[in-house]
Amino acid sequence: MGHLIYPTTNLNAIEQLVITHGEGVYVYDNQGRKYLEGLSGLWCSALGHGNRELAEAAATQMRAMAFQPLFGGKTHPVAMALAERLAAMLPVKDAYLFFGTSGSDANDTHWKLLRYYYNAIGKPEKRKIIARKGAYHGITVASGALTGLPSSHTYFDLPFEALGVVRAEGAHYYRQGRAGESENEFGLRCARELEQLILRENPQTIAAFIGEPVTGAGGVVVPPSTYWPAIQEVLRKHDILLIDDEVITGFGRTGNDFAARTFGIRPDMMTLAKAVTSGYIPLSVAAIRGEMYERLVAPSAKVGVFGHGFTYTGHPVSCAVALKTLEIYERDRVFQHAAQVGTYLQQRLRKFESHALVGELRGVGLIAALEIVADKGSRQSFPTADVVQYLQKRAQEHGLLVRALGSTSIGICPPLIITERQIDELVDSLGAALDETLSYAERQGLLAPVGKTATG
Ligand SMILES: Cc1ncc(COP(=O)(O)O)c(C=O)c1O
Repeated sequence: MGHLIYPTTNLNAIEQLVITHGEGVYVYDNQGRKYLEGLSGLWCSALGHGNRELAEAAATQMRAMAFQPLFGGKTHPVAMALAERLAAMLPVKDAYLFFGTSGSDANDTHWKLLRYYYNAIGKPEKRKIIARKGAYHGITVASGALTGLPSSHTYFDLPFEALGVVRAEGAHYYRQGRAGESENEFGLRCARELEQLILRENPQTIAAFIGEPVTGAGGVVVPPSTYWPAIQEVLRKHDILLIDDEVITGFGRTGNDFAARTFGIRPDMMTLAKAVTSGYIPLSVAAIRGEMYERLVAPSAKVGVFGHGFTYTGHPVSCAVALKTLEIYERDRVFQHAAQVGTYLQQRLRKFESHALVGELRGVGLIAALEIVADKGSRQSFPTADVVQYLQKRAQEHGLLVRALGSTSIGICPPLIITERQIDELVDSLGAALDETLSYAERQGLLAPVGKTATG
């Protein structure tokens, strides 16, 4: 056993699988076994493995100029080119971009930009950020506080009160919808409840609302079509900015370039990472409206510096790989392909809706989840993560890497370059794993009768 501290891992169950290399949508372990990347690594390997052009872009940039900071008025052409290219793509008005290396640091950056901005425009009381239960926005102290998952908080004493996180409900119709309430009515109710929360907190004190268009790590929760328009109306009414966290959904994942377009979101600020480089090298983006950026300039002159920046902000190798990634997305019509095979994936997954373990199939484009239940009728979950973890392991035995999301769902998010034939393979492996997991749950006496006793 080595000296690595493993991230987001049960530290009693480390080193379960050693992956050594990959090609296209497949990776291989140290025994030579092949796996289909059903979660694109961690929702990021959009172009799959072994892309020679991306490797070449990194090598060429390393040979030309391995590192150059952007501090103190210096710049370099690759960071400038990437900012121009992204600004032209993003659904953020006259976007200005700050580069980092992780989705977490980009959300921390947003936090600090909000403080800076509101101090600059003379509204220092606007400090709180509304984040939703079940959300994932990162794992640093600040972004981890925005995350609404207990496992990210317990033992870490997060969220620190001083950060001023206000927790709103998620948009999980299957779990939160009321009897007789349609999905669209539920979406509107979420917005009404958000407004009540804002009024209770005092709108004058709220800087922003942060949300993933589709909640990723929290279970791939796709909101009803009424949700985002109604939420935005409430936010606009109370002068609250919207941070659209597209770390997972950005770059073709939901059938459009950004999920903002899929759901009619008009963000003030956007968070991007992962697929911006197809996961080949770390890079994150915090994007804000140009009009917000302009308000940062005078205070920075007063202080003498805009006092925020990382050593690796605008790292030339990351920027070069991102530029090549965006070029490939456009040249090879990758988002159009993803939209097409995304429709196919959703259609193929529908066959699991009748499976005894599947309470709900959720998804859009090339992202989906199956909600795993002990009893379909009462929607009762299994009491622990044991069953979804078993399902994840069985899928692995069948050559498919998917991820247990908490104790209730299994997440699916293959590379954007996946083909229909490979989707068939994914569905076959998942089907076999589901059947074996059902037998396991039966053998262990974990299904409905025991559950019903438990709810009593
Ligand atoms: C929506 C969202 N935001 C932020 C993050 C944090 O990104 P990172 O792990 O790069 O810090 C993630 C990570 O999965 C994410 O899914």
